[in-house]
Amino acid sequence: MLYNNEKTIFTERRILMKDIFTAPFVKEMQDTTANMYRLGWDERNGGNISYMLDEKEVAEYLDLTKVIRTIPTGFDATALIGKIFIVTGTGKYFKNVKDDPETNLGIIRIAEDGTTAELLWGYKDGSKFTSELPAHLMSHMARLKVNPENRVVMHCHPTNTLAMNYIHELDEKKFTHTLWEMCTECIVVFPDGVGVLPWMLCGTNEIGEATAKKMEEFRLVVWGMHGIYGAGKDMDETFGLIETVEKAAQIYMLTAHMPRINTIKDEEMKVLAEFFGVKYRADFLNL
Ligand code: 13P
Ligand code: ZN
Repeated sequence: MLYNNEKTIFTERRILMKDIFTAPFVKEMQDTTANMYRLGWDERNGGNISYMLDEKEVAEYLDLTKVIRTIPTGFDATALIGKIFIVTGTGKYFKNVKDDPETNLGIIRIAEDGTTAELLWGYKDGSKFTSELPAHLMSHMARLKVNPENRVVMHCHPTNTLAMNYIHELDEKKFTHTLWEMCTECIVVFPDGVGVLPWMLCGTNEIGEATAKKMEEFRLVVWGMHGIYGAGKDMDETFGLIETVEKAAQIYMLTAHMPRINTIKDEEMKVLAEFFGVKYRADFLNL
């Protein structure tokens, strides 16, 4: 094959570059958003996901020297300079991601200044990343300090978790304790508990900073009367955390208005946590 001709080289590069629409990380975003929509966690444009990608893997699909446009983020993410994320777009509906990922998702890299996002793919209609990028990237920074394996931050509006916000005290010890009581596996799945923030204005750096502060301690953070944030090493872990909280909240909502005659006792939760060897918030139990 001739390589001394520009057209051939171009053709050859195209052949070598894999099709982004077949990338596993794009598929994971499509599948997860569809699942979350199906579960009723993401009405309209509700919810957002950010997923940190491996640069080498992305380079198999995209020319990383080609920046489509730059978008200011409005906050400092110096600790994430050079890191690449696939992120849902602002105002985009989770139900539409599956059929049109290039419009509803974007792949961004945090630029050298720490305050600019370089768009490498997506947001095809000229739009940009979620309005909750501060909460996402600040949470990534907080979680990476606790666990260098953390890759995913997920936000959504699960129905029962949200309903529970209106009838249960928004106190993280009491809120966590009630959830732990609702399903035997809760204390094993989220032994670190659930952080709780009061109602705050969303889409701001302030709520981002408050979320990240909670993320130093918790992988789950409830935004009072709004929704929930989860963080984890992969999509399954993060989804599973929120799914387990939502299941517990559902049991709570199905039973809260009826007399309770049985419960999982604090001593039993302790036995569970010890048997499964998880480091749990003992101060959230009343022993
Ligand atoms: P975005 O459409 O900007 O992602 O916002 C949705 C949302 O859930 C706000 O909290
Ligand atoms: Zn929201």
